[in-house]
Amino acid sequence: MNVKLLIFILGGILVGNIAGSLVSHSDHTEDGISERVLQSRWYTQEQVKRGRALYKENCAQCHQADASGHANVIEGNSAPALNGTEHTWHHPLSSLRRTVKQGGIPLGGTMPSFSDKLTNEEIDDILAWVQSHWSSDIYTAWEKRNKQSY
Ligand code: HEC
Repeated sequence: MNVKLLIFILGGILVGNIAGSLVSHSDHTEDGISERVLQSRWYTQEQVKRGRALYKENCAQCHQADASGHANVIEGNSAPALNGTEHTWHHPLSSLRRTVKQGGIPLGGTMPSFSDKLTNEEIDDILAWVQSHWSSDIYTAWEKRNKQSY
């Protein structure tokens, strides 16, 4: 084989690998998004860590351990996904907090109230963990709505 052709092929493989690793680079770590992305968000990694345990204990039975939702359907009412794939990111932080405190029963739903079970800090920890599943695009779209709501 001609040397120039060989260099051309090897160069192509190298460039392909670099491009591939850039494309497959993910902002997600075991605890959600990476430190780099987190710096622009309202919560800390400590909150995400605390929130993970609290979520598992209080929310996972209905919203699933990975927040993908639709476990434990009660009276035909199924708990939506909280991981950014459904409607949840349309709500500003104030209404997400209110939903967890009041539950869905006052609005004709079935989600229980957590106002007697969780402190405001614990609710924020859980919401931090929930939002750590949101992609940068979803978070940015949420942030815009959140700002407009004040
Ligand atoms: C017993 C089942 C159940 C538990 C436990 C539960 N939820 Fe829900 N959740 C639901 C259901 C069902 C809905 C849909 C509204 C309704 O019926 O009340 C909902 C709705 C929500 C919404 C509104 C989502 C949207 O897209 O509008 C949020 C946010 C939420 N839950 C967060 C939580 C968090 C955080 C916890 C834990 C602290 C939790 N839920 C525990 C069943 C549950």
